[in-house]
Amino acid sequence: MRRFFIAGNWKMNKAKDEACGLVEGILAGIEGCPHVDIAVCPPFTFLDTAAQKAVNTPLMIGAQNVYYRESGAYTGEISPPMLKSVGCGYVIIGHSERRIYFKETDSEINRKVHMCLKNGLIPILCVGETIGQKNDGRTFDVLNSQVIYGLEGIDDHLVRNIIIAYEPVWAIGTGVTASGDQVEEIHRFIRNTIREFACDEVSAGVRIIYGGSVNSGNAVDLLARDNVDGALVGGASLKAGPFCEIVKIAESLARTISIPG
Ligand code: PGA
Repeated sequence: MRRFFIAGNWKMNKAKDEACGLVEGILAGIEGCPHVDIAVCPPFTFLDTAAQKAVNTPLMIGAQNVYYRESGAYTGEISPPMLKSVGCGYVIIGHSERRIYFKETDSEINRKVHMCLKNGLIPILCVGETIGQKNDGRTFDVLNSQVIYGLEGIDDHLVRNIIIAYEPVWAIGTGVTASGDQVEEIHRFIRNTIREFACDEVSAGVRIIYGGSVNSGNAVDLLARDNVDGALVGGASLKAGPFCEIVKIAESLARTISIPG
């Protein structure tokens, strides 16, 4: 059974006081949602504080990026053991904003995935096509190669822990969301891609979540699909109310029986 995973990606937003208030608001708003895994991904500077507030609560903490070495002379970078040491459990890897603005390659992304797994962090591997790639009919090719390269060399027993976030670049921060039907088709394609190199049990167990203008108005349509296992929420995660509403929608749709992959 795949549990829903709802994560907030705060991106480069909030000052310390606001970040504290947001975590407190979320903690109050997610009570009574035992069937949903919930995480927030604040900027690096607030991870420690957020993690301390989240101790002994259902809220988990993720980072938005990481470097692929454990320590050394890499000025300005943050390593997986550092994240682990402040109570981080997840790391967003290969977000399209990092691929586009910081020129991250599939090979760097793959190294980050390996290094996170080695250090007991769960990667949230982001994949997604741009509008140009979509219009050129290349969506499935792009996703296939991002998934295959991103997961290259990872053992089956570790692949099962990874979360894939399908985030069409044209839907991020635009208010345009892919329809539930489109997302379900693409998630099924991603699961079949994983099935090419991992066993059936592993590919059926991997959580594939959707990101791109998710809000409380479209969450039902998206989360009601068999292969949509949660959401990576940007803009709507910057206020406790809208984020917690999405979590509650997930709880109301929560799967309590096994579904086929
Ligand atoms: P958005 O961002 O919800 O603001 O579209 C999602 C993301 O980039 O993870």
